Amino acid sequence: MIPSLGCLPDDLQGKRALVRVDFNIPRSGADVGDTTRIERTIPTIRWLLDRGARPILLSHLGRPRGFPDPVHSLAGVAGTLASMSGLPVRFVAPCDGPEALEASHDLEPGRVMLLENTRFSRGETENSPTMVRRLAQLGEFLVLDAFGSLHREHASTAGLASTMRPAVVGLLVQRELEALRSLDEPPLPFVVAFGGAKAADKIMLLESLIDRADRLLLGGIVANTFLRAAGLETGGSVVSESEIPRARDLLQKAGDKISLPVDLIVASPLAVRNRPADELYGGKRKPEKEKVRPRTVLCAEGVPDDLAAFDIGARTRQLFGGEIRQARSFFWNGPMGMFERKKFASGTLSVARAAAEATRDKALTVIGGGDSAAAVQLAGLASAVSHVSTGGGASMELIAGSTLPGLAPLAEQELRDGKLTW
Ligand code: 3PG
Repeated sequence: MIPSLGCLPDDLQGKRALVRVDFNIPRSGADVGDTTRIERTIPTIRWLLDRGARPILLSHLGRPRGFPDPVHSLAGVAGTLASMSGLPVRFVAPCDGPEALEASHDLEPGRVMLLENTRFSRGETENSPTMVRRLAQLGEFLVLDAFGSLHREHASTAGLASTMRPAVVGLLVQRELEALRSLDEPPLPFVVAFGGAKAADKIMLLESLIDRADRLLLGGIVANTFLRAAGLETGGSVVSESEIPRARDLLQKAGDKISLPVDLIVASPLAVRNRPADELYGGKRKPEKEKVRPRTVLCAEGVPDDLAAFDIGARTRQLFGGEIRQARSFFWNGPMGMFERKKFASGTLSVARAAAEATRDKALTVIGGGDSAAAVQLAGLASAVSHVSTGGGASMELIAGSTLPGLAPLAEQELRDGKLTW
């Protein structure tokens, strides 16, 4: 059993709670973008404050290379947290120096502290014992609420989880685990849609889902890779070459369960890539000035060499929509195309709409974080599906049945009458 907040000892008055959150959120320049991860962390912070504990928050942001980099500072996020929660938030940098330790002891009751990006220290991604020791001194107990990072074996996730006691999950992680575990034995038919890039990860997941899912719908670069594996021409479309043999094996093993696009929206890859992306995350949407001329091709006829696929076509949208609407449970990770461009967003938005319709018909629908979560938000349908996960990679690993390195050590603690002790 993975202990949650209710398993903490009763008296938390004045105790320093080290809370690992995931505030790695999309930004547009200096502006903080989709704030779902912040919003869903606030109940955990309030739970701790209500019991007199002093929350000290740790997070990473982006992928800095182990040294301070202003572009990836969490200073701006501290302001966003303060305005969203109405709580006084103190920002302290760096996250693992003597200043942080002193500030953690000085933190007044009722206040929250957010530390600077953990990835400004090399020890974070190396899961260095020195960094773990320094971070562990900042609190008397650990609350892991960074669902999106639990698949990372880093100092502030797996490192602290195996070192600090007591250690529990927060309300955000608890909600994620409940939602994703409801797909352990999914109501049938169980339909899965994968798109986007990272074909290697998705193919690995497909291998583990093949027996459980009734239908697997593929879009994006994953689909391009399968179309090539099926012997079709993909022109200038992005394909994960190294994954073609595994895709071919999967088609042989479970071809009848896999639905590939039957048509694609294609355009000149040069015209598309030379233009700035539309602005999705706040600010004004920039008009597309480019002369990108999308057109539809049938997959069976192949994509011409000078063109590349950027979305699924209308027939595929209809086909996939029909499958999703019939599902009793549905899991989706990865957009169907380059949805950050309006011209190539229809496929991804149609999947979001079909998921919302299936939910209305009582299906269990789970959106696995990252870009698919952003697409559901963009379509204004986040509250019309059963669950939008805050973790992309983490939700996929959990669905595939892997043990998350950040969670495993928590289950090893001994509970007495359902409670952990100091
Ligand atoms: C995410 O957004 O997926 C998590 O915050 C993990 O970030 P990472 O892929 O940079 O480790």
